Amino acid sequence: MHEKKLASKTRTIKSIPLSLLKKGKIHMIPIYYLATLSSYAKETLLNQGSAKAFDLIYRNEPEGRFILGKIVDKHFLNIPWSKATRNRLAVVQETLKRLIETSPPEKEITILSLPCGYARDLIGVFEDIKDRNVRAYGLDLDEKAVEVASSRAKEMGIEKICFHLGNALNPMDYPIQSPDIIVSIGLTEYLSYEEIIEFHKELHSALGEDGHLLTAHCGHHPHEKSYGEDTGWVVNSLDKREVQELFSQLPFSDVNIWHEPEKIYSMILARK
Ligand SMILES: C[S@@+](CC[C@H](N)C(=O)[O-])C[C@H]1O[C@@H](n2cnc3c(N)ncnc32)[C@H](O)[C@@H]1O
Repeated sequence: MHEKKLASKTRTIKSIPLSLLKKGKIHMIPIYYLATLSSYAKETLLNQGSAKAFDLIYRNEPEGRFILGKIVDKHFLNIPWSKATRNRLAVVQETLKRLIETSPPEKEITILSLPCGYARDLIGVFEDIKDRNVRAYGLDLDEKAVEVASSRAKEMGIEKICFHLGNALNPMDYPIQSPDIIVSIGLTEYLSYEEIIEFHKELHSALGEDGHLLTAHCGHHPHEKSYGEDTGWVVNSLDKREVQELFSQLPFSDVNIWHEPEKIYSMILARK
């Protein structure tokens, strides 16, 4: 039986409009309803950190109710954090391709992605490495994400990726042992510092010999404080220096930390 609670759902406020009213932020209530016209903002307000919300950012095609909804959606898709999130996806795909291309051609490479969401990273990489011997496994606790990722991979004719329902925080749920690469994008922001340390220790144990961990962590950004106060989201942002300090406590070697072009996310590639 899988623990069902998504770590990404950190929201502590039940009704945002009611909370704004209680705080006397009445001017924010029409802004809240305006935001819900945008497909991305509505999904984020209802299901913070969902695979669907992130897929809308990656897709980057404004969508919403009425023309106004599309305009608001376009605004949200263009804020630096959204651009940084798309940069993060591009960096993950480039790095994965590089790791695959620099491995001995005869070796089968296994990749575990957790949480995989709709798996745009894995699916995008598989389109470009058709001649390589790679097998990938995605794990997510959201049934819809597993369903969408599976059907997208099937549509693309990719047979060497399979998706599983399970808890990324529970190694007993991992569908493969000792993968060569673990990709973990979009989870640690929702964990406490202690949980991040514990999670990375588990990933280190789960990796195969000399395996790579590819991950990222969101740094501080201008909207973080106001979004958090008004929506009750709890997000654990860490800047690059804090990420370096965190990794200095972990058993990984060859830790490489760099920024994506918007300098909001720290990208991390480390070796077991
Ligand atoms: C921000 S999304 C990132 C998904 C994907 N890595 C990406 O970059 O699009 C966070 C994902 O974590 C999943 N999730 C949250 N808690 C989880 C848990 N404990 N185990 C597995 N998946 C979880 C959510 O369902 C969601 O798909």
